[in-house]
Amino acid sequence: MNPLAIRSTHARRVWDSRGRPTVEAEVGLAGGALGRAIVPAGASKGSREALELRDGGARFGGLDVLQAVAHVNGEIAQAVQGRAADDQAGLDDALIALDGTPGKTRLGANATLAVSLAAAHAVAAARGLPLYASIGGPGAALLPMPQVQVFGGGAHAGRRVDIQDFMVVCPGAGSFAQAMEWTAEVYRCAGELMRARGAPGGVADEGGWWPDFSTNEEALEALVAAIERAGFVPGNEVAIALDVAASEFGRGGRYRLGLEARELDADGLIELLLRWIERYPIASIEDPLAEDDLAAFARFTQAVGQRVQVVGDDLLVSSAPLLREAAALGAANTVLLKPNQRGTLSETLQAWQAARALGYAGIVSARSGETEDTSIVHLAIAWGTGQLKVGSFARSERMAKWNEALRIEERLGPRARFAGSAVFGRNPPRPLA
Ligand code: PGA
Ligand code: ZN
Repeated sequence: MNPLAIRSTHARRVWDSRGRPTVEAEVGLAGGALGRAIVPAGASKGSREALELRDGGARFGGLDVLQAVAHVNGEIAQAVQGRAADDQAGLDDALIALDGTPGKTRLGANATLAVSLAAAHAVAAARGLPLYASIGGPGAALLPMPQVQVFGGGAHAGRRVDIQDFMVVCPGAGSFAQAMEWTAEVYRCAGELMRARGAPGGVADEGGWWPDFSTNEEALEALVAAIERAGFVPGNEVAIALDVAASEFGRGGRYRLGLEARELDADGLIELLLRWIERYPIASIEDPLAEDDLAAFARFTQAVGQRVQVVGDDLLVSSAPLLREAAALGAANTVLLKPNQRGTLSETLQAWQAARALGYAGIVSARSGETEDTSIVHLAIAWGTGQLKVGSFARSERMAKWNEALRIEERLGPRARFAGSAVFGRNPPRPLA
């Protein structure tokens, strides 16, 4: 008997950080080990993501996942029974073949990913290893640079500001723990500044302060002010990362900034972002243009890709083939990796491997609808991506992940390496002016 053979697979409906239904799966192995994983959910999704299967109808606004749960407990459980769980690629291929569609539209990526990830946890448990070491082996010791949201926006904050994520990174920090300490001060100071402006308080979906700005650029000014108020040098020590999530307000080459009541074409938006890059210490920009605007995405990357990280999220949806297409045109230089955009661990890993081969950087990312599941922290370390984005510095579905990375850094002790400013290339991010 192979102790790593799958003996049982069970799913249930649990609830995410927005109070919406999601899928949790447990995989039990013949030797007695058990693994468990919960799938997250996005709100500003790329159109080419694998399908998150929702039941429709009236219950929970159509968002129930009982069909996906039933798929795990029925077909999937049967199909994976007896498989060696440590053959992740073989298991994931079986899930892909069982679904039989390019976008997991039959079984649901939420069904397949829950099992794919729970199996990895079961193997780690059987080996008595943390997930990052089970997947990544003894060399997995690179702690990621965190991208931490300070102000929420876009689809995560009632579109009170068009840009979705105003984040900080800490190129000057010497360890993951120090990056957390610095971020904590910046986050706190940003809250003080918001209160001083008379803002209503409260936080957006990922825990960033609720936006209260009259222009998008005002949020950038507030972020720089918060970095300075916290006692850091903007750029060298603490820099800015943005997720424009432009697919949310742009289509067909037209971009509508609702907050500023104006519409721009792609070149207008590029011009605006270039101005921001000149004025503010921006290290990283995600989805600066919409997913249907590949040529403009490439033009933007040509213009700033040498000094700024240009991240494709909705553009690339963690897909190796889409990444290769984008790379052929020179669009983006970094891929955001969200396992639920594809529905198996192996496909997400393939996107990272393709990225590496093409000289792209990678950021493992959470979704706006999250849970206590901390798997993505382990994936970032196992795969050595060097960057991790899980939302803000509040709400426990976020803090659970930052805290898990702290535990791992401590556990690794002197073996731990921190990705540091190297992830942004040779030049530290600072305003050009
Ligand atoms: P989402 O947002 O999880 O709502 O898609 C996260 C992101 O755009 O990076
Ligand atoms: Zn994004």
